Amino acid sequence: MTQPRIFEGLEGVLVSRTQLSSVDGAAGQLVVRGRAIEALVSEVAFESMVGLLLDGALPGASALAARQAELGAARVRAHAWLEPRFEAIAASDAMTTLRSALSLLPSEATAADALGMAAVATAAWIRRARGGQLPAPKPGLPHAHDLLRMLSGGEPVDGAARLLDAYLVTVAEHGFNASTFAARVTASTGADLAAAMVSGVATLSGPLHGGAPGPVLDMLDAVGSAEHAGDYVRAELAAGRRIMGMGHRVYRVRDPRAFVLERALSLYRSGQGESSRLALARAVEAAAEAELARKYPERALRANVEFYTALLLEALDVPRGAFTAIFACARIAGYAAHYAEQRQSGRLIRPSALYVGELPSVSG
Ligand code: COA
Repeated sequence: MTQPRIFEGLEGVLVSRTQLSSVDGAAGQLVVRGRAIEALVSEVAFESMVGLLLDGALPGASALAARQAELGAARVRAHAWLEPRFEAIAASDAMTTLRSALSLLPSEATAADALGMAAVATAAWIRRARGGQLPAPKPGLPHAHDLLRMLSGGEPVDGAARLLDAYLVTVAEHGFNASTFAARVTASTGADLAAAMVSGVATLSGPLHGGAPGPVLDMLDAVGSAEHAGDYVRAELAAGRRIMGMGHRVYRVRDPRAFVLERALSLYRSGQGESSRLALARAVEAAAEAELARKYPERALRANVEFYTALLLEALDVPRGAFTAIFACARIAGYAAHYAEQRQSGRLIRPSALYVGELPSVSG
C-alpha cells in the first residue's frame, strides 16, 4: 500500500489565497498589496501601512489623519483598561504580559484597539522593568512616536521616532508565517478578533519565530570583536547550536527586510558617527554566512529580519526582553488584516494527520 505523503511543517503547501502579501523566497522579494517593502518603508508611515493592510489602499491625507486619530484614541482607551489591571497581569516576560493584556480586550474590539493595547502594554512593561511609571498616551502623536515616548519616558531624540516607524512598517506583514497562520486558524472558527490576536502573539513568542533578536545581541556580546567572529560561529555549529538571526523557512537569499533595516539603521547612525556595533554585526553576519554555506552547501542560510531588528531596537534603547513584543506591536496590523480576509473568504481550517499510534486489539 502506498503511504500518504506528509508535509511536515506545511512547507510548500498552499492553504489559501491572499491579497495581502507575497513572499518570494527565491528572489528575496516582499510585496504588500502590490507595493515593494523597500518603497513602503521609504514612503509611508505606520498609520498608512495599517490603512493599506486593512482598507486595501494607501490613505489620502484626510484618511491618514483619521487613522492617526483612531490609533491615538485606541491608545487612550487601552491605557484606561490597562492601568487598574496592569499589576495583576504584569509578568517577568514581556510576551506573557502582552498576551494577557490582549485578553483584556472586549469581544467587539477592533484592529485599532489591538494595536493600541499592544503599544501601551509593551511600553508599560518596559517602564515597569525600569522602575518607572507608564506615561499616559498622547493621542495627537503619530503611533511610533508615542510608543517610543511612552516606553522611554521622555521625548525621542532626532530621527528615533522615524527609525521605529520604519521598523514597524517593515515587519507589519509577512505572508503565512506561523503566527499569522495561527491567527487565521482562530479566525476560521468564527472566534473574535481579540482571540485571534492572542493566538498570533502567543505563537510569535517562540525562539524560532519572533524570539530570535534578543539572542542575536547575546551572540554579539559573546563574540566581542570582529576577529573572533569566525571562531565563535564554528564553535557554535560544532556544538550543534543554531546561529540566531540566520536562515529562513522561505527565503533562499538574504531576507529583503534585513537590507531595509540595515539601511535605516545605518542612516540613523550616520548622524552619530560610525557605529562599532554595526561593524561587529556585519562581521558576524559574514562569518555566519560563510560557515553555514560550508556546512549546508545545498541550503542557503542567510541573515533574516531578526538580525538587524536586534541592532535597530538596541539603538532605540529598547531592552532585549521587549524586542519580540515590539515586533508584535507591528505584526498585529498584519494579523488583523488576515483576520478580516479569513472571515470574509476563508473556510474552517481543519487539516488531518496520519494516525501512527496503537489500534484496539481485535478480540475473538
Ligand atoms: N544555524 C545553524 N543551522 C541552521 C540554522 C541556523 N540559523 N538554520 C537552519 N539550520 C540548519 C538546520 O539545523 C538544519 O540542519 P539539519 O538538517 O542538519 O538538521 C538545516 O539547516 C535546515 O534547516 P531547517 O530546520 O529545515 O529550516 P527551517 O526552514 O525549519 O528553519 C528557521 C527556518 C528560521 C527556523 C531556522 O533557519 C532557524 O532556526 N534560524 C535561527 C532562528 C531565527 O533566526 N529565527 C527567526 C526567523 S525569521
